[in-house]
Amino acid sequence: MAINPTDFMTTMVRRVQLSDADKATLTAAAPWGKEIAPEMADIFYDYLGRDEEMNAILNATEGRIHRLRQTFVEWFAEMFTGMDGWGKNYADRRWKIGLVHVKVGIGPQHVVPAMAVVVNAVRQKLRQSGQSEVLGDALGKICMIDLAFIEQAYFEVSAQAVLQETGWTQALFQRLITTGAASM
Ligand code: HEM
Repeated sequence: MAINPTDFMTTMVRRVQLSDADKATLTAAAPWGKEIAPEMADIFYDYLGRDEEMNAILNATEGRIHRLRQTFVEWFAEMFTGMDGWGKNYADRRWKIGLVHVKVGIGPQHVVPAMAVVVNAVRQKLRQSGQSEVLGDALGKICMIDLAFIEQAYFEVSAQAVLQETGWTQALFQRLITTGAASM
């Protein structure tokens, strides 16, 4: 494992400024989150299904879409409960979700817009249900933390693969990236 998920979580909580008040807001709204999760899953998979590439990935194996719908519902509800107070279990789960996406070959270009769809759908639902803006802000923050886990997984997996395959040091790899970026 390239990163320590709990440390990464702590850093993201600080950077995204997910406060104790945000966590309390999310926990208080957990029943509402659970209630709307299936509807959010419908919106999410409807969006993915309208993209030719993503639709092909979703239907690549038997039963995948069904399994995914279920895991999405769980994922959505977990943002509200924080599982173990947004602790080790939460961080390990988010890291694993990141790794699954890397393994399946879904690039960041798909994941970022998909998360934007979730954030927008939640905002709309909040307005329709007369829920507070404060809840929307807290949800936006936790969505960004979850997104950061998936994005970081791409880099960590790619970097580890190169380092293992080549035996390069971290410093050499970093230098090559910097030089490569400068020449683009
Ligand atoms: C907001 C962004 C996303 C979230 C929150 C999300 C959520 C999840 C979760 C919770 C899992 C289950 C992980 C596990 O098995 O432990 C998963 C797996 C997967 N996701 Fe996503 N996903 C996102 C974006 C995408 C996108 C853009 C695609 C593109 C098609 C995608 C396709 C898949 C596939 C193919 C799997 C593996 C399914 C299998 O078990 O065969 N996801 N996702």
